[in-house]
Amino acid sequence: MTCLLTFALASALSAQFVATQTVPSELYSPIIAQKLLKTAQSQSIANSYPQYTYPGGNGSWDLFTADTWTSAFFSGELYLLNQRFTTLCPGNSANIDGTNWIAEGMDWSEGLAGLTASNTLGHDVGFISQPFRDDVALNFANSTALDIVQGFNADLSARFSPIVGCTKSWDGPTDNDFEVIMDNMQNLVLFLFTASLTGNQTLVDMAMSHANKTIENHVRDDGSSFHVVDYDPTTGGVQWRGTAQGYSNSSTWSRGQAWGIYGFATMYNFTRVQTYLDTSRCMADYFVSNLPEAGVPYWDFNAPLSPPPSYDTSAATIAASALLFLSSMEAQQSPANTSGAQHWQQAAISLLSSTVQLAWQPGGDWDSLLSNGTVNNRATPPNNNTGVIYGDYYFIEAGNRLVELGLVDCSGAVLNGTSGNSTGPSGGSGTGSGSGPSPSGPANSAAIGPQTSLLSAGILGILVVVVALMSLYDTAGIMAWSRGKTEIMD
Ligand SMILES: *[C@@H]1O[C@H](CO)[C@@H](O)[C@H](O)[C@H]1NC(C)=O
Ligand SMILES: *[C@@H]1O[C@H](CO)[C@@H](O)[C@H](O)[C@H]1NC(C)=O
Ligand SMILES: *[C@@H]1O[C@H](CO)[C@@H](O)[C@H](O)[C@H]1NC(C)=O
Ligand SMILES: *[C@@H]1O[C@H](CO)[C@@H](O)[C@H](O)[C@H]1NC(C)=O
Ligand SMILES: *[C@@H]1O[C@H](CO)[C@@H](O)[C@H](O)[C@H]1NC(C)=O
Ligand SMILES: *[C@@H]1O[C@H](CO)[C@@H](O)[C@H](O)[C@H]1NC(C)=O
Ligand SMILES: *[C@@H]1O[C@H](CO)[C@@H](O)[C@H](O)[C@H]1NC(C)=O
Ligand SMILES: *[C@@H]1O[C@H](CO)[C@@H](O)[C@H](O)[C@H]1NC(C)=O
Ligand SMILES: *[C@@H]1O[C@H](CO)[C@@H](O)[C@H](O)[C@H]1NC(C)=O
Ligand SMILES: *[C@@H]1O[C@H](CO)[C@@H](O)[C@H](O)[C@H]1NC(C)=O
Ligand SMILES: *[C@@H]1O[C@H](CO)[C@@H](O)[C@H](O)[C@H]1NC(C)=O
Repeated sequence: MTCLLTFALASALSAQFVATQTVPSELYSPIIAQKLLKTAQSQSIANSYPQYTYPGGNGSWDLFTADTWTSAFFSGELYLLNQRFTTLCPGNSANIDGTNWIAEGMDWSEGLAGLTASNTLGHDVGFISQPFRDDVALNFANSTALDIVQGFNADLSARFSPIVGCTKSWDGPTDNDFEVIMDNMQNLVLFLFTASLTGNQTLVDMAMSHANKTIENHVRDDGSSFHVVDYDPTTGGVQWRGTAQGYSNSSTWSRGQAWGIYGFATMYNFTRVQTYLDTSRCMADYFVSNLPEAGVPYWDFNAPLSPPPSYDTSAATIAASALLFLSSMEAQQSPANTSGAQHWQQAAISLLSSTVQLAWQPGGDWDSLLSNGTVNNRATPPNNNTGVIYGDYYFIEAGNRLVELGLVDCSGAVLNGTSGNSTGPSGGSGTGSGSGPSPSGPANSAAIGPQTSLLSAGILGILVVVVALMSLYDTAGIMAWSRGKTEIMD
């Protein structure tokens, strides 16, 4: 996959770094703990799980059974607050004293464990496994949690076809369909996580094969994406490309695009294969460059503007968290790609600020933190303008990531400078030490830091021109590759 730098990205990277956005303090509001604890302790919702607030309604959670793709997100939010208030910011005043967030989270995931025996989740076992992966990460000796993770992993493995080279997302509509959706990229983490514990390379190969096919068949030359690709299960050939939830068969559904940015960043984090970083960058660039004026994506990047389309704040928060993840991948390059890291950080902060401005719901009548999510605008009737559990989840995750990146503390106060810390969260494999030649850029670009001087801005400008020229040089390759894509139906 080759993606030309857009003009916007090239000029953003060549400009001297100026922090233009501040981190919204709502990301660290005490209201978050208050709302989550209220839902967590609500007696009336045993064995049912919040997914979205009633469309066009009163802000109350609509509840679903465990066997629903979204049922682990609420538990996941409680784990994120555990991370925030124990690891990242112990003693933070936005906490509710005496709350055992991990116990609350485990309470809410307990009802999901039995799904390993039987479920109708398709590829979404990746999402459902999240709290159990969290349990393992907290305590590697927890064999109960490990067994559950491996149970879900077996489900996902069984969906892999060596002929197609992908895991099947949805069953049906007929036996002659093998449908893969962009969202599936976000579930590959289950393979990668399990492989990191067991050393089973087959799982990594399956994840890479799926990701490679997705680059080949879902991602377009400009970094935008199809929602659905239908493969022929007997030949592995593409028989149809289109959408299930987007505006049209040739459009870019915002949430799918956000899942892609995130999924490819995850692939890069675990494999360090350059193509995945490039794809995440390219999809991120499309997302950021095509936002409407309000700075929050509409439900589809190609939705007609009249009458005004509904926004999808869940696409915004998924993308914001993904951009921060991507930013730490840039910072872990050797030498550190500081300008790239800062660019994605600013884009993420800007998305979060716009989202807060549009959709933050501090009032107690809203169970969710945010409104203005679009669950499915193709449903009958359309399901839009709601709070969405995964929108809230990635909002909290983005808040945690900003702290991990060293950009703010848990009150949202900016640490010096807004550009943060160029090495990013620890635990990654890159050190950003700047030693040794880089395969992808001049060795001295690590010197370009937050306190950019005119001289280093000049060096950066030259670097950008060189990178742009290198991209142009590759145009022939792109054209050859485009000609290979002949099955686009519309
Ligand atoms: C909100 O609306 C839903 C659906 O109309 C209803 O079932 C629920 O009880 C309402 N919640 C409150 C708090 O009024
Ligand atoms: C281990 O994980 C299970 C399943 O998530 C959880 O119920 C249990 O409390 C965990 N045990 C420990 C010691 O963390
Ligand atoms: C590795 O994973 C694959 C796919 O789930 C499985 O078939 C195989 O048995 C696993 N190998 C080992 C050694 O566990
Ligand atoms: C996926 O693509 C990467 C990068 O081109 C390549 O190294 C790898 O072998 C491919 N893996 C599979 C399973 O297709
Ligand atoms: C996409 O194409 C299919 C079949 O080709 C058609 O049935 C469907 O209505 C199209 N979807 C949209 C949103 O246009
Ligand atoms: C990134 O990869 C490391 C292992 O290399 C892992 O510990 C970490 O959890 C991964 N991060 C994410 C967000 O997946
Ligand atoms: C730094 O990151 C930007 C944004 O992703 C990218 O365009 C650029 O190629 C990267 N530079 C290097 C040297 O990797
Ligand atoms: C956002 O959602 C709120 C609450 O439902 C609604 O009042 C407002 O009109 C929505 N904003 C837009 C731009 O649709
Ligand atoms: C949002 O949903 C409502 C109710 O289903 C529908 O009437 C409306 O057309 C949708 N709004 C947009 C902008 O698509
Ligand atoms: C951050 O920098 C500003 C101005 O450069 C300074 O006033 C402030 O004290 C610094 N804060 C910290 C925590 O170092
Ligand atoms: C940079 O981030 C690391 C890891 O989160 C942290 O330990 C370190 O204190 C941060 N440095 C600065 C200057 O913020």
